Amino acid sequence: MILETFKHFPDFELLDTGDGFRLERWGDAVLQRPDPQIIWPKSRPNHEWNNAWAIFKSASEENKGRWEIKKPLPNPWLIEFDSVKFLLKLSPFKHTGLFAEQAAQWEFMLAKIRNKSENQKLKILNLFAYTGGATLVLAKAGCLVTHVDASKPAITWANENHKLNTLPADSVRWILDDAVKFVRRELKRGAKYDGIIMDPPAFGHGPTGKTWKFNDDLPGLLNDCTQLLSDNAKFLIINGYATNSSALALNNLLTDAVKNLGGGVEFGELCLKQKSQRLISTGIFARWSKG
Ligand SMILES: C[S@@+](CC[C@H](N)C(=O)[O-])C[C@H]1O[C@@H](n2cnc3c(N)ncnc32)[C@H](O)[C@@H]1O
Repeated sequence: MILETFKHFPDFELLDTGDGFRLERWGDAVLQRPDPQIIWPKSRPNHEWNNAWAIFKSASEENKGRWEIKKPLPNPWLIEFDSVKFLLKLSPFKHTGLFAEQAAQWEFMLAKIRNKSENQKLKILNLFAYTGGATLVLAKAGCLVTHVDASKPAITWANENHKLNTLPADSVRWILDDAVKFVRRELKRGAKYDGIIMDPPAFGHGPTGKTWKFNDDLPGLLNDCTQLLSDNAKFLIINGYATNSSALALNNLLTDAVKNLGGGVEFGELCLKQKSQRLISTGIFARWSKG
């Protein structure tokens, strides 16, 4: 069981946690965001918490969740990971447009593809791809990425991120679709990928309303995805968050699905490390890789 954190992402920092909140630095800006698992007290002095530029106030009976702005945020608000630029915004759902903990998976994938003198471009499939964190990091590393998400606003935001970076236009294929349906069609087409990453929500909808339920739909999607892996495949990564699943469950599922592919499976919790070295969990994962 691995407690996985990113190694190098200077534009993001978890400054402190406590009393149901995270204090985070995103580039220059400091945010306070709620996190229900944080049941221990703050360790940094109040004046540091009061330095937050914006605080997300969770929804209550009478009103929707909202941001309380203390100090105007940079406009545009850009941060970088491994010289890939991302545009951040305060979303109505306390999100910023990037899941910083995913940087650990980006580093893992880059390590799997970088030390390979591949003469042809690697084809990668990113499912539930949101604003394109993994997509752009891999495209920057020379891969051809198929970016699949069911949300038009997410695809639009991912396109904005793409335009911020000098990437070949054909480095990303943008697909607005239900992940399960798209993978089924790729199977029929005989498509093959050298790497697959997915980060499904616990519950979601395809563009035509088809529901996605993590525990019900993941086994089928995973089996289909293993058949899309090329003989030269490097990795298959499953992330999960806010699910009633576990890293062990993902490990059991993935180990069965890749049993004839060689390579190895590792699993654990995707974490963020605080300045004080305390770890907080943000989700679970299991990942297969070869070579
Ligand atoms: C939390 S996000 C994933 C975050 C992403 N991995 C990242 O690091 O940037 C989950 C995404 O799944 C998408 N989604 C939900 N249900 C879907 C479905 N059935 N098919 C495709 N995408 C779906 C949502 O629109 C959302 O963008």
